[in-house]
Amino acid sequence: MNSTPGSLLGIENLDASTVSEYLQLARRMDPSQPSTLLAGKRVVLLFYEASTRTRVSFEFAAKALGATTTVITATASSIEKGESLIDTGATLHALGADCIVMRHPSSGAPNLLARHLDIPVVNAGDGMHEHPSQALLDAFTMLKHKPDLRGLRVSILGDVYHSRVARSNVFLLSKCGAQVTLCGPVDLVPDVATQLAPGVRVSRTLEDGIRDADVVMLLRIQKERFVGRRISYEQYVADFQMSPERLCAARPDAILMHPGPIIRGVEITADMADSPRAVILQQVSSGIPVRMAILARALGKA
Ligand code: CP
Repeated sequence: MNSTPGSLLGIENLDASTVSEYLQLARRMDPSQPSTLLAGKRVVLLFYEASTRTRVSFEFAAKALGATTTVITATASSIEKGESLIDTGATLHALGADCIVMRHPSSGAPNLLARHLDIPVVNAGDGMHEHPSQALLDAFTMLKHKPDLRGLRVSILGDVYHSRVARSNVFLLSKCGAQVTLCGPVDLVPDVATQLAPGVRVSRTLEDGIRDADVVMLLRIQKERFVGRRISYEQYVADFQMSPERLCAARPDAILMHPGPIIRGVEITADMADSPRAVILQQVSSGIPVRMAILARALGKA
């Protein structure tokens, strides 16, 4: 079975016009105005991995549209007793779920569930694969500061190799005509990353990687990912930590983004995180209208 219409499993297979439709719909959403658009609908938030931003904003988005929500986590459900993903999905369907929003540590898990259910499945981040709602809210945030994605110079810095956020952003930005540079040491940004999408460039130094960028996007850095690598964690922090001084290599009006959670003193200095050029909390806020649009479309109310 293919996925149910309205499912959002990734950005890679969307076209630019569908991305634009999501963004236009998100602009029409007002989280402060109670709505009954999804009244009577049941949205299940099935989270096999930790989350703050994605889980809370999907829940607030569903409630803002009048839906009923329930949150299921791996440690407080029958998942802990060994129930399979497909059996859990079938159980939620039998209980009357109209839509499942799902985060899972395995790449492709939402695609698998979507093939076994005839209700829409929304990917809230799967392994090293995709995080489509994050890329949509990042684009929504960029468009609050920049007139167009076409021609925008976006530099993504950090652990691109392990990042589902980077993959979804590369797919979305390239489809929409932005120029994407991926920046970091070879262990975190392998040369093959240029093959993610046409026109993607790789840079090995921070100064070259962000030169003349309109948008600089940092990724979270995890110490354990440096075990056995050619670059140490300490060297990465010395070479790539973003500070207000280093951001001067980008355009004077460049914005700084980060999907969160940020780790101050690792990929970003505290004064950079608190700078007016950092739009990190705006990204968090964008999550609600964007996820309202995703849920409205998933449930046929776009
Ligand atoms: N950006 C993001 O996915 O954050 P959470 O892990 O807190 O949801």
